[in-house]
Amino acid sequence: LSIEYLPLPGLAVEDIDTPALIIDIGAADENIRKLQAWCDAHNLGVRPHAKTHKSPFWAHRQLEAGAIGLCASKVSEAEVLINGGVSDVMITSQIVGRPKIERLMGLAGRANVTVAVDREDNVRDLSEAAVAHGAELGVVVEVNVGQDRCGTLPGEATTSLARAAEAAPGLRFDGLLGYEGHVVATRDAGERKAGAEAAMDRLFAAADGVEAAGLPVNVLSAAGTGTYNVTGAMDRITDVQCGSYIFMDGDYMEVMDDFRPALSVLSTVVSRPAPDLAVLDVGRKSISMDRGFPKVLGIPGAEVFALSEEHGKMSVTQKPGTPAVGEKVALLPMHGDTTIALHTNYFVARAGKLESIVDIAARGCFT
Ligand SMILES: Cc1ncc(COP(=O)(O)O)c(C=O)c1O
Repeated sequence: LSIEYLPLPGLAVEDIDTPALIIDIGAADENIRKLQAWCDAHNLGVRPHAKTHKSPFWAHRQLEAGAIGLCASKVSEAEVLINGGVSDVMITSQIVGRPKIERLMGLAGRANVTVAVDREDNVRDLSEAAVAHGAELGVVVEVNVGQDRCGTLPGEATTSLARAAEAAPGLRFDGLLGYEGHVVATRDAGERKAGAEAAMDRLFAAADGVEAAGLPVNVLSAAGTGTYNVTGAMDRITDVQCGSYIFMDGDYMEVMDDFRPALSVLSTVVSRPAPDLAVLDVGRKSISMDRGFPKVLGIPGAEVFALSEEHGKMSVTQKPGTPAVGEKVALLPMHGDTTIALHTNYFVARAGKLESIVDIAARGCFT
């Protein structure tokens, strides 16, 4: 929205023009405090993943609560965080190719930057660039703990890469990273716990090998929101890298209720073509559906069953005519991260009133 269309603080949330991404700051702050308190009690560092909120505003609230730094997925996300005053960022993806490595070196001169590696040629490229720039870059070896995405296998593959990282000029070998993303959203708590334990067995086996080779493993980072209290309860884990916990989403609310949903997308009914059908002004350009249709909040029995680019179809079973054209409908996205990435602003609300409008500064940052 151009500035003249932005609402002023104090406006009732239901009067904000739509579609709008609303954050209940009370709930978000409570989520931040809750994870931090749990990790403090377990002597564990919190390094929240900024891929969820893509914003220095929320990063600073996490740091003020006690986080040791932030995670980012992309160099461009790390740039936004560091430009926004965050001084410690771990990039949990492999950074490959000259253009991105050059940008990474620009950051390494300004902040403590750590990056995940899983190949020796990448370690060489990073080391050469760090030496050329006179920079120091932290590296963690990513271990494949069962997600079968990136990462080395526990054993010799991990140990020899750790050795290469330790020996590489310009690089500082910090330890290992293992994200058990394949089990974080397993609905059954027992199965989720068993899955996380199996994943961490692999991470610890990898760490055993590295330590046996005489290298210190100062960082053992793992865990997503769904496994924070399983993985985080293991003594050897040093940091958790949860992201979604800050706002939660419809999918995670089916996994656990440890954290409160803080985000919704406010929409408006724009047409009532049939007694049992309302059409909303949200579609796939303002709410994601990679994890299913959003949940309708506050209207019992109503369901979104179709989304095109800019329209959503909602079935209604309530008394005829409600909600009427012009009425607002709040939706809970099933996937927060992919919904947030579509928006320009957070409309931050407290007790039902708009408190501030916050730029989603790293929107579009996928390089
Ligand atoms: C490497 C890595 N770490 C941490 C997270 C955060 O996980 P969650 O959003 O489940 O808390 C993600 C999310 O995809 C991730 O890819």
